[in-house]
Amino acid sequence: MSYLEATNDLYKEAALTPDVGLCCTTNPIWELPGLKIPKIMQEMNYGCGSTVNVRDLTNNPKMLYVGVGGGMELLQFSYFNRQKSGVIGVDVVDEMLEASRKNFKIAEEQNDWFKSEFVNLKKGDALNLPVKDNSIDVAAQNCLFNIFKADDLKKAIDEMYRVLKPHGRLVMSDPTCEQPMNDRLRNDDRLRALCLSGSLPIAEYVKALTDAGFGTIEIRARKPYRILDPKNYPTEKLIYIESIEVAAIKDPMPKDGPCIFTGKAAIYFGDQDYFDDKKGHILLKNQPIAICDKTAGALADLGRDDIFISESTYHYDGGGCC
Ligand SMILES: C[S@@+](CC[C@H](N)C(=O)[O-])C[C@H]1O[C@@H](n2cnc3c(N)ncnc32)[C@H](O)[C@@H]1O
Repeated sequence: MSYLEATNDLYKEAALTPDVGLCCTTNPIWELPGLKIPKIMQEMNYGCGSTVNVRDLTNNPKMLYVGVGGGMELLQFSYFNRQKSGVIGVDVVDEMLEASRKNFKIAEEQNDWFKSEFVNLKKGDALNLPVKDNSIDVAAQNCLFNIFKADDLKKAIDEMYRVLKPHGRLVMSDPTCEQPMNDRLRNDDRLRALCLSGSLPIAEYVKALTDAGFGTIEIRARKPYRILDPKNYPTEKLIYIESIEVAAIKDPMPKDGPCIFTGKAAIYFGDQDYFDDKKGHILLKNQPIAICDKTAGALADLGRDDIFISESTYHYDGGGCC
């Protein structure tokens, strides 16, 4: 059995019998006016963060969500969209599609604004999406891509790139890990399917996105996720896994390389009212400006003693350079 078949079997089980501890998100349940998330959707929250960000959802975007789980995030996306087929939900596991379909009916009873027809559920594979080229404004996946091995991850990201319109966004939440993992962990199909042994270091994860052509990357959050300890897993060392929330934007690739925002800021504190680097960045005195890592490097190379550049906070929420 391939690791993809093992993954399908695991999520078939998780669709038939909800498994509360399957993934570990530290995100609190959303509380928005008039939004009620059914208990069954909360029990089937198999994500590791959130992909729903109000900043992405202006002007009724056409949305795609790959790997639907219990449907919680599709309901959250619909809250902002409220149009027939406003969100396309794709999953390869029939039982998961069926479970989410039932959950949307329950959501309809508990939310007077919601109609099941807001979500268009389709059977399909992340590696070969049943969606037209250049047709989506916001595509999302939560805790699926980390399961894929390198070649499949490339296919999955290329597929998302294909279906997005120019300047469209791929919004993701996935585990990442900065420590090496041994081959036993890496090749354990079940641990991989459980989102425990496929994760990459952040830099490799980001490179997979920029290699596909995404010109802007935003790392929006970085959080503790899980521990693999020697008593319970085939590892001699304790392994710490985090999760990150990332947006990859289908902007053209800049000639000097991608703009990657990791939550750095620059503060000019010199004698003038502002500092102009003549490359499109104006730093007003004593006002922090969010900068991408490329701009941070270029400003640092100036060697000035009146510009402070912060470390990456891995919390970027818009604005700034580029
Ligand atoms: C870890 S769960 C995450 C579910 C949901 N995103 C959430 O946050 O609760 C992975 C989901 O991806 C689906 N899935 C697994 N392999 C897939 C594939 N190759 N293509 C599309 N969906 C897949 C599973 O059925 C399951 O719904």
